[in-house]
Amino acid sequence: MKIAINTGGGDAPGLNAAIRSSVLSALKRGWEVYGIRNGYGSLYTDDPFIRLDEDRVRGITMRGGTILGTANRGNPFEMPIRQENGSWEVEDRSDRVVEVFEEHGIEALVAIGGDGSMHIANRLTEKGIRIVGVPKTIDNDIWGCDITLGFDTATTTATEAIDKLTTTAEAHQRIMVVEMMGRYAGWITLHSGLAASADVILIPEIPFSLDIVADKIRHLDANGHNYAIVVVAEGAVEKGGERFVKGKKAGQAEILGGVGEYLEKELGERTGKESRSIVLGHLQRGGTPSSLDRLISLRYGAAAIRAVENSNFNRLVVMQENQLRLIPISDVADKIKTVPLDGDTIRTAQEIGICLGE
Ligand code: F6P
Repeated sequence: MKIAINTGGGDAPGLNAAIRSSVLSALKRGWEVYGIRNGYGSLYTDDPFIRLDEDRVRGITMRGGTILGTANRGNPFEMPIRQENGSWEVEDRSDRVVEVFEEHGIEALVAIGGDGSMHIANRLTEKGIRIVGVPKTIDNDIWGCDITLGFDTATTTATEAIDKLTTTAEAHQRIMVVEMMGRYAGWITLHSGLAASADVILIPEIPFSLDIVADKIRHLDANGHNYAIVVVAEGAVEKGGERFVKGKKAGQAEILGGVGEYLEKELGERTGKESRSIVLGHLQRGGTPSSLDRLISLRYGAAAIRAVENSNFNRLVVMQENQLRLIPISDVADKIKTVPLDGDTIRTAQEIGICLGE
């Protein structure tokens, strides 16, 4: 058996652990394993694969990033191609993926990725490529999966950042607004905000009212708490407002950002308090994976190889109620898992008096 492994989309802590366990589990079965360099984009180059052996994956479990490299612009169905006039157009180059796999005798693909990668995987399965998916993203927004690899580390990093920002906010009696990643889901923001005792948590699932947030800060002040921590997801929207989008390039997802700066200004003006904002950005994606992320990544990687061995193709390995299960990739493609508003985490935030902007 000859298999390939791809890491696609934004990196996440735990990717290397998943690569390592897939590789070692496959080698144990006597298979050959190839990593795709820097995402699908390299399939259009002369040297798309890295042969993966025991030496290549030794000592990588604790390393962030991905030894294979990744890319956010490698969708073979929407490949940005530079035109003769210098402009960029997206073209469908997916047939080449099938050709390259055939030329190299690759029989199955372990696709480690997020919602974008699962969308691509679903379309590649329709072209006959046999795929098992592994759920990766700090955003934790893959439908049907309780926890994606990378989420725990990102949340821990964000929690530690809020802790640090709290002491400086307190010293200066300021409002500190912390903008977090997560795209259209508020998982990182809600979990880290709760864990770090933020006063206000704003997530995309609950459009916020500035008046209500400002009231909360005034109320804190009136009770002698003269600083406030506001955490906001990059995808959060004001009631009746638009999402903050910084840009969009051909063949790529939109880049979100700006809501933190907006809140800094608006809340400062409304409350008369000094206000500062910070964007945590890619800090949340970097660094050493937590032990939970290492463990689930190792489990996901090994489970993917078991699925390949059992010809359970076109399936995604997921965690549901603490059990690993396989679900059809087609069930997941083009959906996202947002924070359930009737879940106990939201209720906990409400019951302990955190303002959710509503
Ligand atoms: O999907 C992971 C993620 O980190 C999102 O939270 C964020 O919006 C996006 O990727 C940022 O992507 P890029 O690395 O292309 O700026």
